Amino acid sequence: MHQPVISGTGVFTPEEVITNDELVVAFNAYADKFNAAHADEIAAGEVAEVPQSSSAFIFAASGIERRHVMNKSGILDPDRMYPTLRQRSDDEPGIMAEMALDACHKALAQAGKTAADVDAVIVAASNLERAYPAIAIEVQDLLGIEGFGFDLNVACSSATFGIQAASDMVRAGSAKAILVVNPEVTSGHLEWRDRDCHFIFGDVCTATLIERKEDVSGPHFEVVSTKCLTKFSNNIRNNNGFLRRNRPDGVADRRDMQFMQNGRKVFKEVLPIVSKHILSHLEDAGHSADELKRLWLHQANKAMNDFIGKKVLGRVPEAGEQPNILQEYANTSSAGSIIAFSQYSEDIEDGELGLICSFGAGYSVGSVLLRRVAP
Ligand code: COA
Repeated sequence: MHQPVISGTGVFTPEEVITNDELVVAFNAYADKFNAAHADEIAAGEVAEVPQSSSAFIFAASGIERRHVMNKSGILDPDRMYPTLRQRSDDEPGIMAEMALDACHKALAQAGKTAADVDAVIVAASNLERAYPAIAIEVQDLLGIEGFGFDLNVACSSATFGIQAASDMVRAGSAKAILVVNPEVTSGHLEWRDRDCHFIFGDVCTATLIERKEDVSGPHFEVVSTKCLTKFSNNIRNNNGFLRRNRPDGVADRRDMQFMQNGRKVFKEVLPIVSKHILSHLEDAGHSADELKRLWLHQANKAMNDFIGKKVLGRVPEAGEQPNILQEYANTSSAGSIIAFSQYSEDIEDGELGLICSFGAGYSVGSVLLRRVAP
């Protein structure tokens, strides 16, 4: 058996940024146009008027201030309201693979390794741009990795489920170094015309290198243990998939072909599952919450993270104990907790413990307990 460790992480951040104010201006222009075009049906009560959005609401409800996206102009065009992403030929890298490469190179550089040291790639993300071949195999090919790759999707929990799979494979010896990559083009599956959720997501890609401890000489985090849980719920759902072609009712304007959620229910139902999950993971591992130096939580909503931190630690978390990155990135699905880990882990000292936890559709929760080794 080998001890798995995290030796490097990398974050690809798209250059284009949309502030809440820019988003709201575009949404309200779309709403005005829609309401003018449907004035008669709205007056007759046949069509619901689209209400205006507000930056103040968005910040108060979520803590989000801006988001990075792969294409801004299409999202902010009131006549379009979704990103303009060029259809690529099969002979060029896909958008997810391109984002993945940048994040992987950064993770490898941090670990002081090259692709020759890696023998597997797991692409773990909420939505995959095609059914097959796996995005992971394309990333493997572009990096020149000898070995294997596969894709995995557990929505916002994909990264931690991927880290569990990679850690178990390293521990068992079926691979010696694995890149777990989370390319999230959330802007492609968000309904930007729905006021209740148009502000929620942003695009990003993260990568985490999991290796055998004996192959690592620099600072790293030992994977002490992992724990995953799923429980079926329809409260976060996206029905888009290949079977849509068999449906007679068309695709273009079907609301269920994009991200849908019952946000209030999610908020209420997921919080107790997550805090219980973290506490039982710590207990299984023979540790307690007061030993945790840091919580790197999924980044969906600031109030949610505040609640989970308080429930797990039994007190209001101190500044820095539970870093948020969603003011800058919004919800980046599976990548959020890994961005937080990547940006806020340098100061953890030798021997100290921290825990990554992601949660979301499924429902699903995944947690990774880490111990810092700083030789
Ligand atoms: N601008 C202005 N007002 C808005 C608005 C917007 N963009 N969106 C909604 N509102 C209004 C609503 O219509 C509602 O009005 P009402 O009280 O008159 O009915 C009011 O603001 C409150 O809306 P609600 O949806 O209940 O807000 P909320 O405080 O629950 O926050 C979420 C919404 C989505 C941010 C919150 O529920 C949440 O974070 N849920 C969990 C999300 C999550 O983790 N999802 C997982 C995805 S991976």
